[in-house]
Amino acid sequence: MEESEKLNVVGVEILKKNGVDVEGLINQLVINSSVEFTAYYYFTLLRANCTGMEGEGIKGVIEDARLEDLSHFESCIERIYQLGGQLPKDAIDYIKMSGCEFLQLPDNPTNLKAILEKCLKAEQGAIINWDKVCKMTHGKDPMTYEIAQHILAEEIEHESWFLELLYGRPSGHMRRKYSGERPHTKMHSKALDMG
Ligand SMILES: [Fe+2]
Ligand SMILES: [Fe+2]
Repeated sequence: MEESEKLNVVGVEILKKNGVDVEGLINQLVINSSVEFTAYYYFTLLRANCTGMEGEGIKGVIEDARLEDLSHFESCIERIYQLGGQLPKDAIDYIKMSGCEFLQLPDNPTNLKAILEKCLKAEQGAIINWDKVCKMTHGKDPMTYEIAQHILAEEIEHESWFLELLYGRPSGHMRRKYSGERPHTKMHSKALDMG
């Protein structure tokens, strides 16, 4: 819809007045959403390869992180369009944008330590991605800041889970009450609520 370029979108104009680089912000949000979407896919594969007695417990933790990545993807979309952005037409372009190839199954696909190392790296990358959006919007774009801050809170929790599993560094919190609980981003991903 080309006419939209000529529309006066007050919700975007105020951000420019507040000093937000709107184009840069849209770009970062699209990249971050592609990382979340692609990580959701790769976590599905990694989880499926957690086998044996030890793998059974890890499956649950990866499931919690996996469903929250889907929530993070969902949490971005509306804001991208409100800002005047859009997702790429080609899903392959979108997935390539994520740079998540490192999340592909390890050479020995059921090597639990290698799986956990990949999960940890993904969470640490996500923290950096969402911190960027927080910095771009802090004090200038409360709507996007709130979404990014809530996603960041879950990513920090996810990092702590994998640090605990790999290195015994206590994460200091209990598992989710149920997979998909998404305590911080639930309000931004209502489409995932059933019924
Ligand atoms: Fe995420
Ligand atoms: Fe995560």
